[in-house]
Amino acid sequence: MRLTRRRLAGAISWAVVPARGQGIGPSPALGRLAEARGLLFGFAIRAGRLLSDADYAAFVVRQADILVPENACKWESLHPQPDRYDFGRLDQVADFAAGHGLRLRGHNFCWHRALPDWVERITGPAAVRAVLEAHIATVAGRYAGRMHSWDVVNEPIQPTDGLPGGLRDTFWYRSLGPGYIDLAFAAARRADPKALLCINDYGLENDDGGGPARREAMLSLLRGMLARGVPVGGVGLQSHLRAGGADRFGPGLARFIGELAGLGLRVLITELDVDDSRLDGSDDEIDREVAGVYRRYLDLVLGTGAIEAVTSWGVWDNRHYTGATPPDGPPARRALVFGPEGEIKPASRAVAAALAAAPPAVHLQAGSVTTGASPR
Ligand code: G3I
Repeated sequence: MRLTRRRLAGAISWAVVPARGQGIGPSPALGRLAEARGLLFGFAIRAGRLLSDADYAAFVVRQADILVPENACKWESLHPQPDRYDFGRLDQVADFAAGHGLRLRGHNFCWHRALPDWVERITGPAAVRAVLEAHIATVAGRYAGRMHSWDVVNEPIQPTDGLPGGLRDTFWYRSLGPGYIDLAFAAARRADPKALLCINDYGLENDDGGGPARREAMLSLLRGMLARGVPVGGVGLQSHLRAGGADRFGPGLARFIGELAGLGLRVLITELDVDDSRLDGSDDEIDREVAGVYRRYLDLVLGTGAIEAVTSWGVWDNRHYTGATPPDGPPARRALVFGPEGEIKPASRAVAAALAAAPPAVHLQAGSVTTGASPR
């Protein structure tokens, strides 16, 4: 393995330099652990902080293999006016990633949120299609060859909306029908012949509640897309988990991942975090519960051997509403893998242990996915 500058830095950090903050033991360079198992580990990053906070940036380089801008690729950031794109920050993030040998995920082209008002004021399928295809051609084309993957369509499934196939009632669906999904993927593939094109969604992790219906709708959507020759290559499981109460994920999730792999699709854990807003107790008690969820979840999904990448939805703990935090309650406080200044905490060690224990990641054929816990 070529000892690049980043890997050398990573090795040193692993061997000698304790992590920022607590400095307890060597910093677990999670990206290095992941690489050793044929995996990628990384973070959703805040572009502004990455480009202005040298400590944050150095930490990201040390720990990650892959980045995804949390918001910088969304319409409201990139395309705020009909005739204006603002590529400044994303160009810098792309240069940063390339300069440090980090892969880059794009998120996203079609979503029901983060749309500027001007988009939803467009009427008529022809006009909406033209704007969508032009946006994707412009953005995906600008970064063609530099992207590991794109979340082309985000959160298309919502069975409770009552639409055929369990699709979500969104501006894109209302304007273009279910065909908006195929249109978006075709436009993305025309603009970037190489990037892995993904559908990304939440709730697919859950064996209970709405999880089975979401999985059934997703599998039906994907089978139809593949039958039509739509260039979907991957599925992102957002994985916004919660601590407190029984785990909602279980063997059904491993089977679902196996079904996705059996369709020849690559599977990524794309927005991993563990909402702690339901927990009381000291930081230590909260950290232990959160770490337990990280470990059990990653043991389960990595144990299938079919996961390609794990990205945590944030770098350092901060008070925020995760995808699993009840909006009418308090924010999550310690939901991420590292502390507020990158301190190693139990979740850091739990993720490191799960990565170290994971079987080598392989792109599996049908039926060969293990559905049990990861081997000890
Ligand atoms: O940057 C502006 C700031 O200038 C302004 O003062 C402030 C108040 O209006 O807003 C700031 O932008 C906010 C942005 O986060 C950055 O903080 C947006 O309003 C806010 O809507 C945006 O929220 C993001 C949300 O997606 C909607 O795009 C969250 O950070 C982000 O974590 C969340 O991520 C989503 C994934 O994209 C999809 N899966 C679920 C996940 C969690 O909700």
